[in-house]
Amino acid sequence: MRQHDYPHLSSSGRIGRLATKNRIVMPPMGTNLASRNGEVTERLVAYYEERAAGGVGTLIVEVAAVHPGGRAIPRQIGIWDDEFVAGLSVLAKAIQKHGTVCAIQLHHAGRQTNASITGEQPVSASPLRCPVMQQVPRELSTREIGEIANAFGSAARRAMQAGFDAVELHGAHGYLINQFLSPYSNHRRDEYGGSRENRFRFAREIVEAVKRDTASDYPIIFRMSADEYMPGGLVSEDAQWIAQNLEQLGVSARFGRRLWLTGSDGAAYGDSSGSACTPCRSYKERGRRACYRCIQITPTRTCGTSIEAR
Ligand SMILES: Cc1cc2nc3c(=O)[nH]c(=O)nc-3n(C[C@H](O)[C@H](O)[C@H](O)COP(=O)(O)O)c2cc1C
Repeated sequence: MRQHDYPHLSSSGRIGRLATKNRIVMPPMGTNLASRNGEVTERLVAYYEERAAGGVGTLIVEVAAVHPGGRAIPRQIGIWDDEFVAGLSVLAKAIQKHGTVCAIQLHHAGRQTNASITGEQPVSASPLRCPVMQQVPRELSTREIGEIANAFGSAARRAMQAGFDAVELHGAHGYLINQFLSPYSNHRRDEYGGSRENRFRFAREIVEAVKRDTASDYPIIFRMSADEYMPGGLVSEDAQWIAQNLEQLGVSARFGRRLWLTGSDGAAYGDSSGSACTPCRSYKERGRRACYRCIQITPTRTCGTSIEAR
């Protein structure tokens, strides 16, 4: 890659109050290198430190479970308890040592996991069989939905205490937040299902919980699917509406908060033969285009592995 072809890529950027040394972002990628109990390991720290030393401006650490019942991989990083803060702090420091801004992705798999990983029946917005894991989840009660939103808030507080510069909410790839957002996976008849506003309620409550439990200017990133490529699923017009609503929540003058959106090809269904991120078959033809559309429709423009700061 010739640097003068991409003059902005190596220039500094901003994410809210954060200055980034360049506009290259390493997106979250699950490594399965935490301990079986979710603790940060030496291998995990070494892996991330090496990536930071490579010069990336912003690094988003992989899926960290806000609840043990929401783990998607056996050795997933845990952030559901205060006991994880010390290890997470070692990880954040190892990345920041290289001048890299570091965020951590807060995650709940919902139905897209199985009991052999979590030890319990997966949960979701509705009791619809997961097309990836093939298990039927249990429908969450409204009380449990509130508890999980609070778990995201507490997890964000731990990330901040551990020294992470920002958190990313995993609202994409068919995981729990996405399951609520999408009419494909959300068939509820209460205030969390049906209309677009109702399906958005869970995400809204999570953002509010994160705001409540962290500092007023703590940056929040939201990763969302631009198009699910599923009949009855989210399409880019929905993503546009969701993005605008998230931004309204996140840049509220009262909190002075910036909210960043990371676009993604989005698809999570249709091909479960590969890794967790293996996109559906239509990805090759349509995924990239949707990704770039997402850049255009979101007022805060971040997508994939590059970032345009404002
Ligand atoms: C092994 C692997 C693990 C991944 N884990 C995560 C993850 O933890 N969280 C996430 O949002 N995306 C995850 N992804 C998706 C990547 O962040 C990224 O979106 C994908 O590789 C496509 O890259 P692009 O967005 O630059 O096109 C993973 C991808 C791979 C290959």
